[in-house]
Amino acid sequence: VAERIRVDAPGGGYEIVIEAGLLAQTERLVSGFGLGGKVVVATNTSIAPIYGNRLAKSLPDASLVTMPDGEQYKTLETVAQLYRDFVHAGLDRSGTVIALGGGVVGDTVGFAAATYMRGVRLVQIPTSLLAMVDSSVGGKVGVDLPEGKNLAGAFKQPDFVLIDPAVLKTLPAREWRCGMAEVIKHGLIADDGLLDPALYVPERAVELVRRAIQVKVDVVQQDPYENGVRAHLNLGHTFAHAIEQVSGYSWLHGEAVAVGLKGAALLSRNLGLCDDSLPTIVGDILAEVGPPSRLDGLSSEQIYAAMGTDKKWRAGRSRFVLLRKIGEPVIVEDVPKADVIRVLEALR
Ligand SMILES: NC(=O)c1ccc[n+]([C@@H]2O[C@H](COP(=O)([O-])OP(=O)(O)OC[C@H]3O[C@@H](n4cnc5c(N)ncnc54)[C@H](O)[C@@H]3O)[C@@H](O)[C@H]2O)c1
Ligand SMILES: [Zn+2]
Repeated sequence: VAERIRVDAPGGGYEIVIEAGLLAQTERLVSGFGLGGKVVVATNTSIAPIYGNRLAKSLPDASLVTMPDGEQYKTLETVAQLYRDFVHAGLDRSGTVIALGGGVVGDTVGFAAATYMRGVRLVQIPTSLLAMVDSSVGGKVGVDLPEGKNLAGAFKQPDFVLIDPAVLKTLPAREWRCGMAEVIKHGLIADDGLLDPALYVPERAVELVRRAIQVKVDVVQQDPYENGVRAHLNLGHTFAHAIEQVSGYSWLHGEAVAVGLKGAALLSRNLGLCDDSLPTIVGDILAEVGPPSRLDGLSSEQIYAAMGTDKKWRAGRSRFVLLRKIGEPVIVEDVPKADVIRVLEALR
């Protein structure tokens, strides 16, 4: 069965379609989603041989272009190369770009599509769990600069987001766990049904992905330009971004988010916002997905200092998304440093 989620967005809404086996249904891709015109399937060198070649061959007028695999290629240099590949493929203003891959491909190719000839049609086909439930929804695209992550970008709403959970069977286990950290984050923010481990099996992927997406859709529809409630999606992320940075990016984002969610739960309890059971519930559900990560050698002082460079800490005032209980996030400012350090020590 196909699940469809309608997203209202500034400048026209779009539909997210979730269906196992969707990628193999050429007729529907062509007539249902307007992929009959000139199409560029843009992916990376790992996804091309598994899904990209086949998809490009199955569409009537499609070319395949590839970027290298890895966050280090989420750059303006790659965007410039994509523009040139688009030209050589004969893509004009009436054409469509398909971003096929994880969040790195979605962000980079999405940014290229947003700016090539002042913008062409974009279809997101996320292939990682994280990209399905997080990065392909919400319209944010962009690249990193040497000075920091995601410093150049745009809002670009896709024309469709097409999700085929069947592709998750080739996703590396480590990447699955990373996506699950964001799924659990969505559960903690707004849908405790997502905190049921019975959902965490391949046979229920359509349901898992649909529910996790719905949380993000509800939030971004209320706040498309990130002025208010969209901040709730940053639960655990003040910790996570600092941990990633201090680890020299040897930790993957989702791994840092998992620890960050525990940090947010502990901080919520220590500040008296929620009762004692919350950190235990959060720890237990994360343990269902994989062995717990610990901060080990990473210095609490360094992590705290890295938090201070967070874009969201306005004028140096600390700012955390915390929980009163499951389903009730709250933004708390000016948390004393000693409370944060105490939590970081507990995560060791
Ligand atoms: N735009 C947004 O709103 C938003 C939100 C969250 C994250 N992001 C961005 O997303 C990126 C992270 O995305 P990610 O976690 O998907 O990482 P990723 O794109 O690097 O993908 C992870 C790895 O899995 C591989 N892969 C993906 N799908 C696969 C499949 N089906 N089978 C086999 N291998 C597969 C990729 O090639 C890559 O090696 C970061 O750059 C982050 O900044 C953006
Ligand atoms: Zn995240």
